[in-house]
Amino acid sequence: MSAEQSHGNGSTSTEVAARVERRWATIAVLIIVMMALLAAFAGIHRATMPQPRVEITDPSRLHLSGEFVESNLGSLLEANGNVTVRAIGQQYSFTPACIVVPVDTPITLRATSADVVHGILIQGTNVNTMLVPGYISEQLMRFTKTGDYLMPCQEFCSFGHEGMWGKVKVIDKTDFANRAKGGGRLSCVGQ
Ligand code: CUA
Repeated sequence: MSAEQSHGNGSTSTEVAARVERRWATIAVLIIVMMALLAAFAGIHRATMPQPRVEITDPSRLHLSGEFVESNLGSLLEANGNVTVRAIGQQYSFTPACIVVPVDTPITLRATSADVVHGILIQGTNVNTMLVPGYISEQLMRFTKTGDYLMPCQEFCSFGHEGMWGKVKVIDKTDFANRAKGGGRLSCVGQ
C-alpha cells in the first residue's frame, strides 16, 4: 500500500498525519503555556500577598540578647494563666531538652534555630513545626493528658540528627502553678 494513497477528500495519508500531528502539537504547547501562566500567577500572587505574620530573628545573636537568650528559655506562666514556651534547636539538641507544661492549658510554643533547619515534633500530638534559622516558629498547643511525650527533631540536620531528641513533660496544673511561683522559666532538664 502506498503512503500517498488518496483519501475520499483528496488529501494523502501524509497530509492527514501532518495535520493530526500539528493539532496535537498545538494542544501540547497550549498545555505548557497554561501551566507556565498558572505558575507565574501563583508565584506573583504569593509574592504580592506575603504571609500575614513573619517574625524574624538573627540566629548568630540569639544567645546575646532578645527573646531567645538562655535565661528566657523554658516555660513561663503568663498573668492570664496561659503558658508560653520558648525553645531553640541547634546541632544536636533542644534547649531546654525537657519542656515542662501544665495539662489542659493553652500553650504557645515559640522556637527558632541557632544554626541549620531543624524540626520539632511532639509524638502523639499534632504539634509539628520546622525551626528555620532567622525565623520564629509559633505553634499553639494544648495537652489533654499528663505524661511524657517524646520530641524528636523531624528535619534532617546532619550527622547527629538521629540523636537529636527532646522531651515534653505534661504535669498537673496545680503542680505547675506551684513550681512557677518563684517566677522565672521552668524546665524539666535533669528531672
Ligand atoms: Cu536537628 Cu534533625
